[in-house]
Amino acid sequence: MRKILTISLLVSILILSGLSLIGCDGDETGQVSYATDIDQKIFRSARYNCIGCHTSALSPHLDLTTYDGLMAGSDNGPVVEPGNADNSFMYEKISQETPSRGIRMPQGGPYLNSVEIKMIEDWINQGAKDN
Ligand code: HEC
Repeated sequence: MRKILTISLLVSILILSGLSLIGCDGDETGQVSYATDIDQKIFRSARYNCIGCHTSALSPHLDLTTYDGLMAGSDNGPVVEPGNADNSFMYEKISQETPSRGIRMPQGGPYLNSVEIKMIEDWINQGAKDN
């Protein structure tokens, strides 16, 4: 009887730990991914379509179709300062109602929600990596 209890206890522990592994989405560190969280879910999303207006061909020549383009910035200079969202024009443009230059992005809205704004803030503060 004791043996059966011990075995069933072990089995439940195994099942529970398996479940908790399935429940985690592999992002326990809160690390934001440029490729999936920024590029796919924001810049290329049907809702915001930043890349509809931001290619190397269109003024102010901020190419959001590639990581290198984003980091190269626009005619006005860099828009991302790795490690410093507060000093990054990209962050200002998507989070402020009246940015210091031009209008809030995306032009005409809808604007990013607080989770998405935080994604961009965190990604920049985590070093703006090509991850
Ligand atoms: C309908 C077209 C359009 C869409 C969509 C759009 N933008 Fe823009 N964006 C512009 C124009 C035009 C400017 C230049 C005028 C200004 O700064 O207000 C600009 C400027 C910017 C700038 C500042 C560039 C600089 O250095 O002066 C950033 C950063 C930016 N956009 C980011 C974004 C992001 C991120 C998105 C998507 C969430 C987005 N934009 C969507 C048209 C657009």
